[in-house]
Amino acid sequence: MSRVIYVDGQYAPWGEASVHAEDRGFQFGDAVYEVCEVAKGHLVDETRHIARLARSLKELDMAMPMSAAALARVMRETVRRNRVRDGILYLQVSRGVAPRDFLYSGNDSLSPTLVCLARSVSMAKVEAQAVVGIAVKTMPDIRWGRCDIKTVMLLPSVLAKEAAKAEGGKEAWLVDRDGKVTEGASSNAWIIDADGRLVTRQADRGILRGVTRTTVIDLLGREGMELVERPFSVAEAKQAREAFITSATNTVMPVVRIDETTIGDGKPGPFTRKLRAEFHSVAEIAP
Ligand code: PDD
Repeated sequence: MSRVIYVDGQYAPWGEASVHAEDRGFQFGDAVYEVCEVAKGHLVDETRHIARLARSLKELDMAMPMSAAALARVMRETVRRNRVRDGILYLQVSRGVAPRDFLYSGNDSLSPTLVCLARSVSMAKVEAQAVVGIAVKTMPDIRWGRCDIKTVMLLPSVLAKEAAKAEGGKEAWLVDRDGKVTEGASSNAWIIDADGRLVTRQADRGILRGVTRTTVIDLLGREGMELVERPFSVAEAKQAREAFITSATNTVMPVVRIDETTIGDGKPGPFTRKLRAEFHSVAEIAP
């Protein structure tokens, strides 16, 4: 089946889908994005992803390329046309095309570039990974001061993930100057501390407020479980009973090793497994 990618109003064949060489997303990283899970052909937490996109755009003084309802239609249509059952949807909005200039104000001809694509991901592979859990490697967090905005300026995360991979890790846990874990390179970081409380960093400007994170917090509320939003150190994480990451691409993924330290008995913890098993019962599933 041939894939199609939505670019500015057209569903183009994969090989023909392109953006102008002077798109500001390409030249300046002047663009924001979203990644949504697709489960059984349906978008997961679509409303929250669109709301976060709108917030990212607003923080960068960019307009929504279309209404939230129209955007949802494009997203669902992209999933449908690509016949994705389990996988991801990727959406990117850049400030648009213009002769290269750092400044954007006063340029009335700029109009946002919207790209939307979807692709399948092997659920069997992700599930097999979740059964054994992943190893993470700690790396210095060298990103900018507005990690709450989901921009495409992902070079620090690219480098951190490559460095983690070179050391046998599936994800990098980024560490601030105080020795505290901020988040994963493309996920939020969680531990269950020695007292059995769930801990994840507060969603300030230092991390992305993950949609999966928010939905897991809903799940904790439903189950009456205690959550503490605070920074935690690498040393504390290594002593944790359980650890996991959350993201649209992983939902809840157990962490069984941090650097050279085994977490718990080296197997995914019972609590993490429960959150993973119940995640979709609390997430919003689009029609
Ligand atoms: N990344 N933190 C960072 C830095 C991220 O890039 C992501 C998501 C998350 C988790 O957010 P959510 O639960 O909304 O997926 C946290 C996506 C999956 C990516 O870049 O591929």
